[in-house]
Amino acid sequence: MTQSAIGEFRPEAGRPRTGGAGAVARFGRASDERLALQEFCPFPQSLEWELGQAYLREKGSRAFLRDAQTVPYAVNNDGSLSLAAARLLFAALHETEQEQKLEEEIRVLELGVGVGLFARLFLEAFRALCRQHGVDYYDRLVYVAGDYSARMLRDGGRHGAFAGHAGRYCLRVVDGLDPVAGLGQDRTGCDAPPFRAVFLNYLLDCLPAAVLEDGPEGPRQLCVRTCLARGLDPDRDTPFGLDGLLARAQSTDPGARRELLEVFPLLAADYDFRPVDPASVPHGDFALAFARGQKIGQVVHSYGAIQCLDRLLPLLHPEGFILVNDYGQVETADGDGFEHQRFSGSTFVGLNFPLLRAYFTQAGEAGWAEPADEEASIHARLVGRELPAEVVERFRELFGKAATEQVQGPARLARALAGSGRVEAAATAYRQALERQPCNLLLLGEVARFVTFALHSPASGVALARQALALKPACSADLWNTRGDGLFALNRLEGQAPKPAGGPCLLVPTLRVGTHGPAAPRPVGEAWRPAGATSVTQCVPDVRTHAERGHEDNKERRMSRGKRPSRRAGPASSCPRSAWVRTARPLCGTRRRRGGRPGRLP
Ligand SMILES: C[S@@+](CC[C@H](N)C(=O)[O-])C[C@H]1O[C@@H](n2cnc3c(N)ncnc32)[C@H](O)[C@@H]1O
Repeated sequence: MTQSAIGEFRPEAGRPRTGGAGAVARFGRASDERLALQEFCPFPQSLEWELGQAYLREKGSRAFLRDAQTVPYAVNNDGSLSLAAARLLFAALHETEQEQKLEEEIRVLELGVGVGLFARLFLEAFRALCRQHGVDYYDRLVYVAGDYSARMLRDGGRHGAFAGHAGRYCLRVVDGLDPVAGLGQDRTGCDAPPFRAVFLNYLLDCLPAAVLEDGPEGPRQLCVRTCLARGLDPDRDTPFGLDGLLARAQSTDPGARRELLEVFPLLAADYDFRPVDPASVPHGDFALAFARGQKIGQVVHSYGAIQCLDRLLPLLHPEGFILVNDYGQVETADGDGFEHQRFSGSTFVGLNFPLLRAYFTQAGEAGWAEPADEEASIHARLVGRELPAEVVERFRELFGKAATEQVQGPARLARALAGSGRVEAAATAYRQALERQPCNLLLLGEVARFVTFALHSPASGVALARQALALKPACSADLWNTRGDGLFALNRLEGQAPKPAGGPCLLVPTLRVGTHGPAAPRPVGEAWRPAGATSVTQCVPDVRTHAERGHEDNKERRMSRGKRPSRRAGPASSCPRSAWVRTARPLCGTRRRRGGRPGRLP
């Protein structure tokens, strides 16, 4: 059975049909009636994969913050992972310093930084730990932030991801598949000391993977055919027309193929297995041997992840660690039913953790550690050359289920209590939740709303939202909205919307900003506006700093830009976007938070 990326089952499609009379054969023919832009080829070489990869590279942080259907990122960026990672590094450095082996410059690397929130909250948490314990590790730290998307790095800088940490970080365009090339003078072997830690959050799922099977007809691999989605007319529904689509799809010029990003939402993928020479797939023989050993028919072969980790290990200090946080299978499972994911315009494949563990531990050349028990959504793994026992132990403490529960429990309880109307008890639980996750932007926003609306204390709500925005002002329209709601409530409840003195004023609606993209702002209340003022943000000049005002004005400008007529009028809306995404990747709602024990060395 093959399956399309837009979620329809297509019995027998793409396979020769024998004796195909009857309903099934007719259904198969009907479902084949769509324009193939590229015939079946191995998944990592397909247009589907290529365009998905190009998307993040080209769009930068927009894929996380502004698209209609953004790439989930909250799970790794709510501050808990940063805190746990900072504690782990701190513990590792502390151990090393006891033995007086710590180098002068302490270097860490993050690959695939995305919006840069993990980095920012890590740096904040690490600095706080160092101050708390009176050590100078932070002052000796160099945080190399790498991504293969120069735009992503630029956006992160522009949005203030590293603000307040001047001299402690550098930005590098680095491809995870070939980190040495991108790291240039930062790599080991030049003057730079090796990395004490490498952080890979949702990076390895962006790297190529194959699905292999060793059936009676010999080894086969999953191939993909990229088609225009059913019911679309290339001339009517795309800006390129039939000839233009085919010319771009078949072009040998990657730039021409990339133009198809504009119609990526209109493309669908068919799966089928085709014969393969295992030697043509990196570590193909290893993956098939693994499948045979595990007695599974099909295996998801995370060979891009293997390559990335293989190439990072030599850049690592012998006692350093690579901390992976990603999604995928943790039990050995048959790859049957495999499906890649699309979020926004990018493509991902969940990792095969048992296969990675087998690869890195087979010759005893690398260390591998996992928590004894863990939550199901996202998985932390530690890889290193000679992982010190104390570091592994601390990792298990920080990333195990008990730690997660300790960190997340109060917030969960608070939500349940608030949901059943037990406001005072919920307030107590929320207070405890904040003590345990002081840098969790999402939690701060949630508590700000609770305080504003359930406790009727908008001033505290505004203060909490402001605290969250200070951590990373350009990440969440929700937080700005929460703050705006609080300000509005303050004005209304306390009558603090005095008509400004001097000059004529109008009472105008205040607007609520769309969370993603150019959604039309919604009126949420009223405020005085000096006649002739062009921006709603001029309504409340007394309560905002200059920087905040600038941010809101920019947001408004972005919204009005979003109202420009689209080049792709029509077809985008005729394709049901919600139908594409069937996800095994944890979304915000299933996020996992981690933390450490209070009252001991982090
Ligand atoms: C899914 S996002 C994860 C972002 C962030 N780490 C997080 O957890 O939210 C993947 C990030 O890795 C980057 N990326 C994808 N493929 C890459 C590669 N081959 N080398 C380096 N960076 C890559 C993307 O640009 C993006 O910033």
